[in-house]
Amino acid sequence: MSVDLALLGRREIETSDAMEQLGFRIGERLEAGDLLILTGPLGAGKTTFTRGLAEGLGVRGPVQSPTFVIARTHPSLVGRAPLVHVDAYRLGSGAELDDLDLDLARSVVVIEWGRGMAEELAETWWDIELERPVGGDGDLDPSELDADAPRHVTITRGGRSAITG
Ligand SMILES: Nc1ncnc2c1ncn2[C@@H]1O[C@H](COP(=O)(O)OP(=O)(O)OP(=O)(O)O)[C@@H](O)[C@H]1O
Ligand SMILES: [Mg+2]
Repeated sequence: MSVDLALLGRREIETSDAMEQLGFRIGERLEAGDLLILTGPLGAGKTTFTRGLAEGLGVRGPVQSPTFVIARTHPSLVGRAPLVHVDAYRLGSGAELDDLDLDLARSVVVIEWGRGMAEELAETWWDIELERPVGGDGDLDPSELDADAPRHVTITRGGRSAITG
């Protein structure tokens, strides 16, 4: 786990390119066993972030919203860990997540919509929260979701025990 602690905290990310770059910087330093839990509303940028992360990690793309597939494995192109990209949106419980038998020890696992379920999978994880600042009153025109607009990203270290590393 050699992620730069300077990445922790809250920052504003102005564009989808910048979101990919943030993911890239994190992906470059991840290793097998790392778990990331991504939280944020529809269109917040979770998959965009994951796309950059996948590039930084050096896995085969494309990273897409897994609409019909709950978990997709992206093998490494560079002899590092594979990426397992999970969309937990339609999962009802931590037990269903557990049923996927994710090979956490040998993969980097990114779980969109995983908060409240994925914490059981590991002792420690990276909690990544993405927010769309106001204007986001819920009835945003879907076509506006693609246009570059700022997001707030808060990265914290999560852990089940009091001491996290
Ligand atoms: N600052 C930004 N950061 C990230 N994405 C942005 C930004 N500004 C605009 N976008 C756009 O917002 C959309 C984010 O979509 P994305 O699929 O990454 O969201 P998501 O959080 O994975 O949504 P879902 O909950 O449906 O899986 C993209 O179309 C992207 O181009
Ligand atoms: Mg997504």
